[in-house]
Amino acid sequence: MTTGGDAPGMNAAIRAVVRSALYFGFDVAGIRRGWWGLLEKDYVKLGGKDVSGIIARGGTILKTSRCPATKTEKGIGTVVKNLLEIAPDGLVVIGGDGSMASASIVANRSRVPVIGIPASIDNDIAGTDETIGFDTAINTSLYAIDKIRDTATSHERVFIVEVMGRESGFLALNVGVASGAEIILLPEIKWKKEEVLEKLRGFKRKKLKSSLIIVMAEGAGSSALLAEYLDRETDMKVRLSNLGYIQRGGSPSVDSRILAGVFGYEAVRLLKNGKKNLMCAWVKDRFSTVPLSYSSSRKKKIDLKLLKIAGIISG
Ligand code: F6P
Repeated sequence: MTTGGDAPGMNAAIRAVVRSALYFGFDVAGIRRGWWGLLEKDYVKLGGKDVSGIIARGGTILKTSRCPATKTEKGIGTVVKNLLEIAPDGLVVIGGDGSMASASIVANRSRVPVIGIPASIDNDIAGTDETIGFDTAINTSLYAIDKIRDTATSHERVFIVEVMGRESGFLALNVGVASGAEIILLPEIKWKKEEVLEKLRGFKRKKLKSSLIIVMAEGAGSSALLAEYLDRETDMKVRLSNLGYIQRGGSPSVDSRILAGVFGYEAVRLLKNGKKNLMCAWVKDRFSTVPLSYSSSRKKKIDLKLLKIAGIISG
């Protein structure tokens, strides 16, 4: 099952789960449209051929949704009942932090073993250094910001580029460093518009830059209000560009595909070995696992050292 926001590499993970499951002698069903599929028994039998040619495709062939079913007693009851009927040997849930939380709730109520595969462009799931889709999303954002830099430089403008990430700044921090952004605004770090203004004026005084880019995480505040304020208070032209959903789509990168392959295989291997209620994790360049409930009660920490380095090397 894929659930929550789509992420590039979900298809590669489906492919890896299906092929590994067939290798280990399981029959496989793909649950369609996330938890709705379990509520409504909407699933499809999957063979090796069904996942041919999907490794390079963004999105998810199984469809996905944000479904509140696992938030109600009645919904959980139906999901648990249908799960036992459809997939008594095990369920692999591919999704983000909300999906891991829902998977954990279902796992606690069900006799069916559940394994989570973290997939989200936000990379905000505690317990794993990286989620499927994150690497692709930062590369997609980088590609876009490099182009914006051309206009910023030619017109000597300031650009605020808003990137996704919900309440987390991992996407913004990484693409901010990689694009050489002069200022990076994250939800995790308090900032004031007056300080941003002062920094811009400082850059202008030093006359070292012909363009200035502020990468701002969507959860860090209102980019529109900040753009308005800076445009009003300086003699520089300030423009806002919101990258939006292009960050969620597209063909997965090498990193996202390899992570999807390893997680898909290991998830099935865990089920084969009788393990249950775990989340696949990538820690210090190695595969490992944490309890499925791990990310629900913890907030993943942003790399403050990287933010400090970014501040120094951006001039
Ligand atoms: O979790 C992925 C994400 O793209 C976030 O970065 C963003 O805040 C959210 O999903 C958008 O959600 P929706 O797809 O429901 O608009």
